[in-house]
Amino acid sequence: MRIQDILRKKRDKEKLTKEEIVFLINGYTSGDITDYQMAAFAMAAFLNGLDADETANLTFEMMKSGSVVDFGDFKGFLVDKHSTGGVGDKISIPLAPLVASCGVYIPMISGRGLGHTGGTLDKLESVPGFNVNLSLEQFIETTKEIGVCLIGQTAEITPADKKLYALRDATSTVESISLITASIMSKKLAEGIKGLVLDVKVGTGAFMKTVEDARKLAESMVAIGKKMDRTVTAVISNMDQPLGEMIGNSLEMLESFETLKGRGPADIKDLTFRLGAEMLKMAGVVKTDEEAFQLFEKKIASGEAGEKMKEILKAHGADPKAFDDYSILPIAEKKYSFLAPEDGYITKFNTEEVGVSAMLLGAGRKTKEDIIDPSVGIALHKKLGDYVKKGDVVATLYYQDDNKLSQGVDRLKGAIFYSSEKPVEFKLVLDKIHS
Ligand code: URA
Repeated sequence: MRIQDILRKKRDKEKLTKEEIVFLINGYTSGDITDYQMAAFAMAAFLNGLDADETANLTFEMMKSGSVVDFGDFKGFLVDKHSTGGVGDKISIPLAPLVASCGVYIPMISGRGLGHTGGTLDKLESVPGFNVNLSLEQFIETTKEIGVCLIGQTAEITPADKKLYALRDATSTVESISLITASIMSKKLAEGIKGLVLDVKVGTGAFMKTVEDARKLAESMVAIGKKMDRTVTAVISNMDQPLGEMIGNSLEMLESFETLKGRGPADIKDLTFRLGAEMLKMAGVVKTDEEAFQLFEKKIASGEAGEKMKEILKAHGADPKAFDDYSILPIAEKKYSFLAPEDGYITKFNTEEVGVSAMLLGAGRKTKEDIIDPSVGIALHKKLGDYVKKGDVVATLYYQDDNKLSQGVDRLKGAIFYSSEKPVEFKLVLDKIHS
């Protein structure tokens, strides 16, 4: 078999066989197939699509590119949550300790920033010392011991996704239903979980811009989960504005810690509770959303959810004091106030552009090799439907470099729209699909 022939087939819209996909993923993982050849595949797959069989084969081969975690006869209920990516989407960070404090187990393999969206791993690593590169053995032991472990794809677990994820980010081949399905589901199926909750984002800040496409993505992932005997629920949630107030790595850790203390923004709490409720229902801990919400309120008020976060920080090599002492978090000292240019209601965000603005400040990567700056980002003080007067502070930009600031400000100017008419009410959760 030759990679050139596989690329030609996909370029010419032909269907790839299972053997060809095995050859592609094995070759890419071992290094026999180069980044430039895989980039050509990603673009051909992006443009011409992969059908359900090709998507399933790609997912399973990517899952098998490394070890599949085996928890043996461990009795705890293993469940995870994954988002398709958004702006200000730090939900996994408060969610994991909150749900674990209710007695279920979360072995979580997350990703880095992708396109205009932030990544859980980059956010966690903004806490000095936080190590997301644990071995397979440490991953299993930490999950069993404290109920949560948060790692990235490694040479041991889904190495094909580790490489392809970074390559897609650098080649504008992210927004493909098949490639997203294979990326997410290969990681999740390798975790050894029984249940999975997917947060499928839709809107101006999501990879899927229409509810129809989001539903197709949700159905594609649910179908693969079902094939592998996992219970999967996909929640379709609205990304027409950033989640919470903070966008940027350390800033999002701070907001996550605040959420675990009961002081987080309403939308972060709402989505954390709703996704968490799906996880607890799967695990049989509760029967209804209301029961789950009451339990979450109790775990936050008692400090148990916060204590779990501190255990996570400690287990990953970070100082648990960071949970209470925010001076440990690197947050840029230079601040710029972004002002409303006119009176009016905020009627629309181009949320992707808000994410790009944060990326240009240094919070994300432009190339695979870029090193992100954990200290920079945006605190957004106004949301959809808020009324502002000309000169009101809409956002504070945390920055280190004047040149990057001016790029970030320019981008943000085109991302917020004002009108004298109040917009219709924003709905956070739009739909739910069960396996
Ligand atoms: N999250 C992932 O893990 N992969 C994608 O392709 C998109 C979001």
